[in-house]
Amino acid sequence: MKLRQLFLLSFTLLLVFCKKPKPEIGVITQKAMVVSAREEASKIGSDILKKGGNAFDAMVATELALAVAYPYAGNIGGGGFMIYRKNDGEIGALDYREKAPLAAHKDMYLDSLGNVIEGKSTIGAMAVGVPGTVAGVFEAHKKLGSLPIEEILQPVIDLAKHGVIVTKKQEARIKEYQPKFLEANNESIIFDKHWKENDTIKYAPLAETLTQIQKNGRDEFYKGETAKKLANFIQENGGIITEEDLAKYEAKWRTPITFQYDDLRIISMSPPSSGGVCLAQIMNAIESYDLDTYQHNSLKYIQVITEAERRAYADRSHFLGDPDFVNIPLDTLISKNYAKLRMNDFSFEKPTSSKDVSHGTIEMIESDETTHYSIVDQFGNAVSVTTTINGAYGSKLYCSELGFFLNNEMDDFSSKPGEPNMFGLVGAKANEISPEKRMLSSMTPTIVEKNGKLFMVVGTPGGSTIITSVLQTILNVHEFKMGMQEAVNQPRFHHQWLPDIIKMEPIGFGIKVKNKLEKLGYAIDETNSLVIGKVDAILVLPDGKLEGGADHRGDDTAVGF
Ligand code: GLY
Repeated sequence: MKLRQLFLLSFTLLLVFCKKPKPEIGVITQKAMVVSAREEASKIGSDILKKGGNAFDAMVATELALAVAYPYAGNIGGGGFMIYRKNDGEIGALDYREKAPLAAHKDMYLDSLGNVIEGKSTIGAMAVGVPGTVAGVFEAHKKLGSLPIEEILQPVIDLAKHGVIVTKKQEARIKEYQPKFLEANNESIIFDKHWKENDTIKYAPLAETLTQIQKNGRDEFYKGETAKKLANFIQENGGIITEEDLAKYEAKWRTPITFQYDDLRIISMSPPSSGGVCLAQIMNAIESYDLDTYQHNSLKYIQVITEAERRAYADRSHFLGDPDFVNIPLDTLISKNYAKLRMNDFSFEKPTSSKDVSHGTIEMIESDETTHYSIVDQFGNAVSVTTTINGAYGSKLYCSELGFFLNNEMDDFSSKPGEPNMFGLVGAKANEISPEKRMLSSMTPTIVEKNGKLFMVVGTPGGSTIITSVLQTILNVHEFKMGMQEAVNQPRFHHQWLPDIIKMEPIGFGIKVKNKLEKLGYAIDETNSLVIGKVDAILVLPDGKLEGGADHRGDDTAVGF
């Protein structure tokens, strides 16, 4: 082939591969919408709204329906965070994060030589934190719900009884994790079977557990027969959670992190999640750059964001932990001045090395597979919830009698300061293990106001990539004027200080951009994350209608009316 032909062929290939995906418009509804990881859950949430329930009633229904339909991450054996904004502008944050059991101690995952014991914080009963989800949904309902809880739980129980159809993606996921299920469980579990697409899995034990909760309330899970069975099960499998741990669990109301970015007001999750703080730090750091004049996902755009992320994740690692246990210099961390200082040494000429980026110096006054759903109701209330059992199917330990997986959230603590966890996040003392402490999270349920009005509800799973996926979705809408579904569809990248690499989804970034980044000295990794995040979001359109952004990377679906 002549040189000229070769050049033309390469150029054509380049054009084909770099072609932007067609803008897609998501589901549009007049009044109300639920976007979640499974159609069944979105539909149950939306039906609750249709019955006259509000966003908080739909939150309870959607959360528990995900526990049935999406055992990969939906749960009653895990925890989560909710951000809400009522139609009158009132905002709030609910923390139903798991916590360390009373018998936990800082070296519990180390051997006699002080080395991390592989797998102990990720698989099986020792990895389990005290679950918060049931407390969370009941707390949200008590304060803000309107329909009787019995009425909200009934369709979820019916779903568990009648069963859920296996999707193609679910078939693949179950198959992938079966060896781990065998490793974690002493007995055979329902997911050991070779489930195929279009099979129906019925969850009778989970239906019974939910029926008991429907009858006896939240205390059934924390103080009743279910609590006894759960504590026994965990201990029989070598864990340390007791009935006392369950009885002591409480969900907590927190003050959300709020900050301004251009004409947007961002409302996001406060510690023990790092989500809101990190998002604020990154957005403060990039605000003064004219991102809208850079091309979307261009060299300069990726550079600015990467460098802001690098600095924010270095701080995350040092300063953040459970606010009930550690002193966090919150005001400074999320201030515009601090962000400016942190970006002082950034240059477009070359990357900053993560070796040269430590946490910022802040004078301290004495003294980390998940799922997300977004809801807007017909009254204008909005709810943004991210909930998790941490890894895919959590600790893989499944209580067959009660019908659910237990989390492996203990891995979100730093087992040994300086050592990376399953997301490669390096933690510090602020996030070391202590009895009853909540482990640091990256979950970033977020609500955005524009000119004082509800604008967007957004969030995603993805461990440490949660924060940066939420960031890019907001920027896609705000800076590049994309619609909700189009913003969700865009390829994503991620940097988290350590390891010093830019993770990129393998499809969607231009070859030229990648080459230029590498030439400047950035290391790119496209092999580790075929997808980054599964964003589920809602955008309020100028005419007041709602556009859903349901991520095609999963089985995610928007339902509403
Ligand atoms: N387990 C993931 C997170 O909380 O960030």
